[in-house]
Amino acid sequence: MRKINWFFGILLLAIISFAPVKAEVDLKQGKKLHDAKCMFCHKPDSPTFYTRKNRDIKSYDSLKTRVETCANRLKIPWFPDEEVTDVTAYMNAEFYKFKKEAAKK
Ligand code: HEC
Repeated sequence: MRKINWFFGILLLAIISFAPVKAEVDLKQGKKLHDAKCMFCHKPDSPTFYTRKNRDIKSYDSLKTRVETCANRLKIPWFPDEEVTDVTAYMNAEFYKFKKEAAKK
């Protein structure tokens, strides 16, 4: 019985210590994906499309939705929890700079 408890203890520890790593966003990966797939329509040079005054996107959530929409339109198979999250985080860090939600994810 003691052995089993040890086993589950260590297993639990492993899960707890690995979980945050998996949930972390990868800005570099986001930039890489964005630059590879999105640049031919959205060239982030001046005048910048993403940072223009009358841009559509007003929140982190709608940014994420738009990333997903643009990817879907282009038939790019990105997962919401992985590529879409990374690209959204990158775009937010680089262009949109929404505060609260950026800290959350
Ligand atoms: C075929 C051209 C094209 C490609 C490639 C493209 N988009 Fe777009 N995107 C558009 C157009 C056109 C708009 C503006 C009109 C609209 O909202 O549909 C837009 C708007 C956006 C906006 C909103 C900009 C604003 O006003 O703040 C975001 C964010 C965005 N795209 C993200 C992406 C991402 C991420 C990718 C790569 C997966 C991507 N787009 C690839 C054509 C494209």
